[in-house]
Amino acid sequence: MSLQTQVYPILWQTDRVSLIDQTRLPNEYALVEVTRSDDMAHAIKTMIVRGAPAIGVAAAYGMYLGAREIQTGDRDFFLAELEAIAQKLRATRPTAVNLFWAIEQMLKTARQTLGSVDYLKQTLLETAKRINAEDIATCQAIGAHGLSALPKEPDKLRLLTHCNAGALATAGYGTALGVVRSTWNAGRLERVYADETRPRLQGAKLTAWECVQEGIPVTVITDNMAAHCMQRGLIDAVVVGADRIAANGDTANKIGTYSVALIAKAHGIPFFVAAPLSTIDFNISDGTQIPIEERDPMEVYQIGETLLCPPGVEYYNPAFDVTPASLITAIVTEHGAFAPSQLQSKLHEQKLS
Ligand code: MRU
Repeated sequence: MSLQTQVYPILWQTDRVSLIDQTRLPNEYALVEVTRSDDMAHAIKTMIVRGAPAIGVAAAYGMYLGAREIQTGDRDFFLAELEAIAQKLRATRPTAVNLFWAIEQMLKTARQTLGSVDYLKQTLLETAKRINAEDIATCQAIGAHGLSALPKEPDKLRLLTHCNAGALATAGYGTALGVVRSTWNAGRLERVYADETRPRLQGAKLTAWECVQEGIPVTVITDNMAAHCMQRGLIDAVVVGADRIAANGDTANKIGTYSVALIAKAHGIPFFVAAPLSTIDFNISDGTQIPIEERDPMEVYQIGETLLCPPGVEYYNPAFDVTPASLITAIVTEHGAFAPSQLQSKLHEQKLS
């Protein structure tokens, strides 16, 4: 398998979407071609494409693919059918708000665009492409702001990350891993520690793969090694992504993030959340209102074909947890890094909330 220096998990190709099949990495680099909205919903649900901003971009294309299947010249009928497609895509995964945000952008475009149904369809494709392109630019801005927010000492930083908030989890470049990339490109990164991230191993499989593609020094640790690494002085800062941030800064991210935040606090290590504005849900005041996805228990009791537990046990598989704002040093957005308590007022000042 050749090195992929620029990783784009979602690419529009003339009349279809190419997705990197993230369920096969790192052993196999395979593309899945998607031409129908049903197939896009399936790809999101089964995590062929995953990561909050990436599923937003994928859903935007899913809306267009669904729109072009609607055979009508009647605008009202078209809009009603489009809402049904939106509902199908919304039902794929509940936690990452970017999914709902992108679908809403597409619906808004359809409602506000005048002209024939054919023209509406064309405008929907352009909107999906714009959401895609803007996400890459947003991640690059997050990377730059994250670099400025990181500790000034030591000169070369050892960063810990959890899950995969990289190019694979966005349209390209990444949020938390975007900060890692910027730090590496600025010559300020010693190494990144990647939690393996049970149960689906996004850290071991995907973050490690991305780092290897670019020659970024990466050490994979099992999730239960992070406290030990901090105690031994191996970590200067933690940077993670987010699936949904409440107005008060409480942050849902991959299961295990909360434990990392707690142990970082115990060791006086700064803990950064890197995420675009589209991940902030100003409609909810705190993290208790964030819906937490529960996935198939087989993700817990099985690795590959190997069963881990004896028959007769019960399983619990929440895919995300909520880190309270009090444990977060700053939330790094494309508009700057803000303390969680300042998030709403700072973004409001910039008329963005
Ligand atoms: O279940 P996943 O793999 O979609 O979860 C991904 C995460 O939790 C990421 O950290 C988050 O979506 C941020 S991606 C930039």
